[in-house]
Parts: sequence; C-alpha cells; structure tokens
Amino acid sequence: MRAYRIAAIPGDGIGVEVIAAGLRALQEVAAREGSFRLEVESFPWSSDYYLERGYYIPEGGLEKLRAFDAIFFGAVGSQKVPDHISLWGLRLPICQGFDQYANVRPARVLPGVTSPLRAGQGIDWVVVRENSEGEYAGHGGRAHRGLPEEVATETAVFTRAGVTRIHRFAFELARKRPKKHLTLVTKSNAQRHGMVLWDEVFFEVARDYPEVKTDRELVDAVTTRMVLKPGTLDTLVATNLHADILSDLAAALTGSLGIAPTANLNPERRFPSMFEPIHGSAFDIAGKGIANPIATFWTAALMLEHLGEQGAARRLMSAVESVTGSGVRTRDLGGSANTEEVTRAVCAAL
Ligand code: IPM
Ligand code: MG
Repeated sequence: MRAYRIAAIPGDGIGVEVIAAGLRALQEVAAREGSFRLEVESFPWSSDYYLERGYYIPEGGLEKLRAFDAIFFGAVGSQKVPDHISLWGLRLPICQGFDQYANVRPARVLPGVTSPLRAGQGIDWVVVRENSEGEYAGHGGRAHRGLPEEVATETAVFTRAGVTRIHRFAFELARKRPKKHLTLVTKSNAQRHGMVLWDEVFFEVARDYPEVKTDRELVDAVTTRMVLKPGTLDTLVATNLHADILSDLAAALTGSLGIAPTANLNPERRFPSMFEPIHGSAFDIAGKGIANPIATFWTAALMLEHLGEQGAARRLMSAVESVTGSGVRTRDLGGSANTEEVTRAVCAAL
C-alpha cells in the first residue's frame, strides 16, 4: 500500500482546530479509498512555542520537514507576537526555503453557499499567486530609526527566471481548465520596471500556449471586473501582493473566507509543497469550536491531488459539497453548526 508522509503544523489560533478536523477527514478518505496510507507527524511550532523558546522553527527543523511528501499547515498569527515576526518566523521560511513559488487559490461557489453578488453564483476562478519574490522578497531596510528623518524601503524584486516560471505554471494550469482562459494582472501603467517585465514575459510565454485565450487587466480595474462581470474571468496570474489581495476578494465573493483553500507548490517537487486554508488564525473565534473547517477540507483535497490521489481528492470534495448543500454550515456561511458537526457530517458523507 502506498504511504505518504504528512507533516502537520497546526500553528496558532483556529489553525489547531481546523487541522485536527482536516486530519480526521483525510484519514477517513484514506480508509474509504483503501489504496494508500497517511503517516502524519505533528509539529508544535506556533507563537506560544516561539514565546517559550525564542524561535518558531528549531535548528534543523526545515531539513526535517524536507523528508515529508507534503506539509499540512493551519495558521500563524497571534496577538502576542507582531505579525511580521510570526510570519517571517514560520510560514515564509517554509515557502521560501522550499521554493514554493506557485501559490494556487481556487475560488468557487460551493453548493448551498450564496455569493454576495447577484451575478456571482457561477464564479469559478483560480488565482495563481507568485509566491517567492515580488513585494514579499524581504528586501529593504530602515535607517535613522525613530528620528523625524527615518527612512524605510520595501523593494519588490522581480527576476526574469521568477516571472517566467510563474507565467509558465499559470499557462499550464489554465490550459487544463475548461475555459482555457488566463488573465494577466499587473500595474504596469504606474510601475514601469518590474510590472513591465511581467507583461513582456507573459506574452513571450503565451506564444507556447496558442490554445489558451489571454487578456490583461490592471490590478485596480480587475477588482471591478471581479465584482461586476465575474463570469468573464477564469484563471488569473498576479504578483505576490496583488494576488494576496485579489484572493481575499475572491474568497469573499464566493461566500466566505472560511472556505478558501490554498496550495503553496514547488511544482518541480524538489521540495515538499505546503497546503493551508487562507483564513489565518482568527484569534477572535479561536478555542470556541466554531471555525469553519471547509477551507481545510478543500485544502486537504488539493493536497491529495498533489500527491496523485485524484480519486480521493474528488471523493473528499463531493463529500464537502454534499454537506454544504445539505445545509450543515457554520456561522460565517449563515448556518449554526460548529466545527465538530461539520466535520462529522463530512466524515459521514465520505
Ligand atoms: C495569505 C495571508 C498571508 C500573506 C499573511 C498571513 C501574511 O494573508 O496567505 O494570503 O499575505 O501571504
Ligand atoms: Mg492574504
């Protein structure tokens, strides 16, 4: 029997609750399929762990993670640690250390869920986010701290290699989708270096994909198109920061941030890829048992797909869809069910 080694990092806040739920669903899928096993090891790396020890990832931690087939990540973020410390302490070292440059964020209205848009029911998008450079490159600095002449720079870094590989990835993905349509999103009217490179490389790569229909939007304009003409979009490719923002909008337009999944992929599989719900640690509702586990189930389905278990992924998504369709929904989706009830319903539907 095939066995996959999964590293679970629940992290902070509701990450702990949703990863526990996600692992239950995953083990149930594996049992139903009967053709593979999941060997899960949990890592306690979190903000509390950091506050006790002074680090999120212990010495040798990344090397240890490297041996896994995939990483199942909850969330990082705590009221007790500044966000840029927690993010750069745990999540970004994994994304960047494992060259997970392709961040994939599907957005679709699940059965029984209502889009806040009148024209939104048919939304079926994938936002492809560049995940290794751009505005998150970490380049910049501060000088003259605290003085009136203090200066801070935050330099976005775009490399031809980095831009080419994300565009190629986006074209490959768009080509496998029914509409075969890819929208390039940049801001090359105002930002005339990196963004113009993005545009140029996009159309160079496009020549290799004549079957994919393309168009382009400026990032500000695409928000209006997402809201007013959602049906005209399919696959979108954008920089790290732009796609971060667009994917939150996409999640809201499909009903709730509580359902939105993401995959941080190293497409060449030199390193493990990481799968996480988009929502974050949500400490306002942490520990109450009411977090929506659907984003994590959908995330788990993306992980199964990546592992090559397409049948299991489909089985999990149909279970999720039958449950949302049946009305068992958490509060963010207008229902009254808690995490446990949704999880039990999904496991039963499996
Ligand atoms: C996301 C999140 C993160 C990001 C935060 C937690 C830094 O918003 O995954 O979209 O911006 O990458
Ligand atoms: Mg975000």
